[in-house]
Amino acid sequence: MLTVENIHTYYGDSYILQGVSLEVGEGQVIGILGRNGMGKTTLVRSVIGFTPPRLGRVIFQGVELTHRPPFEIVRSGVSVVTQGREIFPSLNVTENLTVGFRAKAEGWTLDKVYELFPPLKERERHPGNRLSGGEQQMLSIGRSLMTNPSLLLMDEPTEGLAPIFVKAVGEVIQKLQDSGMSILLVEQNLRFALKYTDYIHILSRGKIVHSSSPKELDANQEIKLKYLGV
Ligand SMILES: Nc1ncnc2c1ncn2[C@@H]1O[C@H](COP(=O)(O)OP(=O)(O)O)[C@@H](O)[C@H]1O
Ligand SMILES: [Mg+2]
Repeated sequence: MLTVENIHTYYGDSYILQGVSLEVGEGQVIGILGRNGMGKTTLVRSVIGFTPPRLGRVIFQGVELTHRPPFEIVRSGVSVVTQGREIFPSLNVTENLTVGFRAKAEGWTLDKVYELFPPLKERERHPGNRLSGGEQQMLSIGRSLMTNPSLLLMDEPTEGLAPIFVKAVGEVIQKLQDSGMSILLVEQNLRFALKYTDYIHILSRGKIVHSSSPKELDANQEIKLKYLGV
């Protein structure tokens, strides 16, 4: 459903993604691993249109999105849970959730998101900046679901979370996958990625340097040490 075809992405003169290609199939969870600064967020930004690639193509459900503005890309069914969450601090939980709502038959609604994240329901009138890190991450995921995407891009959703919330995010990813959602999951947490993905790519200095099943990656000590430092 998503094809990233040989993309090259720059920030001004800085040449970051140097020919990245990958596919996310219907209902798959594809992991992107790699150390800090290797281009993971830039890949997400390239797909969602914040930093369009200068060369190469992004194709989603048969339609080329490469140079479309982000709002159009979201409208076509791609949503992003940004690194650092970026929720609206002065809007309350309900307002944060409904601001980007895009209705879909049988799709996500405010009630369904509150059912998925009961702690958010309890805090529905709290402003975004009065939530804990874990609650903010739930809010960020819930807000993306409210756009009713068929592809979700998640940029380090477990970053900085206490173990109990890491587990909660994992359970949500599992539920979303069971419901048929396709996910591109960027992670630095190897254990987490191994558990929840169908296939993994490792990015190093803007290039994919390893691609395999989670099981094969887990067995490959040399690659893990070289590119992930574990
Ligand atoms: N807005 C920007 N302008 C210039 N360089 C940037 C910008 N954002 C990121 N970079 C650089 O691009 C490279 C990749 O960054 P990023 O995609 O954020 O990596 P990751 O998400 O893997 O940590 C890094 O060298 C970073 O310093
Ligand atoms: Mg990043």
